[in-house]
Amino acid sequence: MRDVSLSIERGELLVIVGPSGSGKTTLLNLISGIDKPTKGEIWIEGTRIDQLDEDTLAHWRGQHVGIVFQFFQLLPTLTVLENVLLPLQLQDVWHNPSSERALALLEQVGMSAHLDKLPAELSGGEQQRVALARALINDPPILIADEPTGNLDSAAGKQVIELFCKQHQAGKTVILVTHEERVAEIASRRLRMVDGRLEDEQLWGKR
Ligand SMILES: Nc1ncnc2c1ncn2[C@@H]1O[C@H](COP(=O)(O)OP(=O)(O)OP(=O)(O)O)[C@@H](O)[C@H]1O
Ligand SMILES: [Mg+2]
Repeated sequence: MRDVSLSIERGELLVIVGPSGSGKTTLLNLISGIDKPTKGEIWIEGTRIDQLDEDTLAHWRGQHVGIVFQFFQLLPTLTVLENVLLPLQLQDVWHNPSSERALALLEQVGMSAHLDKLPAELSGGEQQRVALARALINDPPILIADEPTGNLDSAAGKQVIELFCKQHQAGKTVILVTHEERVAEIASRRLRMVDGRLEDEQLWGKR
């Protein structure tokens, strides 16, 4: 990836499109601090995240970024509720193990009836909705998702897209990578990645 310069406004719903191998996942991993750039700087809300040490970065990420992975990445041996609670445990805010917020989020994504199920007992769309609840448990200002509808049929995909729209409307900064036109349509801004470069910046009507 070369010469990528990107600034994202708070509250944007940014959609990144582009062919396979063009660097979209790499860009998301840089923004969320999963990968570090060999050159250049990454600033988020006044913090230069590429210079943080691993522990500080992990803590920063837990507080600031919610990530929804393409293949959900729920832990197979934990129930739905336990999966959503897990980031709280990792963030060491487990003193008062209140599951109130997790229950409210699972309600919001329509998964209240499945709290004690294991991921293997859920459909792809249901797993993706649990992954979204998990990404939101720490109430991060930034929500990042890589192909959130890539493995879903069109009805499940539509539900998941609506959930991302809701998060945007609630004031979160949402960054989505997609191959799908129907997802790109919800963007307030759309970028195209080609061969490791960003191009075709288009402004779309804010919704
Ligand atoms: N850890 C890595 N080390 C070296 N090269 C990598 C690494 N991860 C990815 N790449 C390469 O970087 C390029 C961009 O990969 P990336 O996964 O960001 O593409 P993508 O746009 O997300 O593609 P897709 O749409 O298929 O998910 C590819 O050529 C890939 O082979
Ligand atoms: Mg990718």
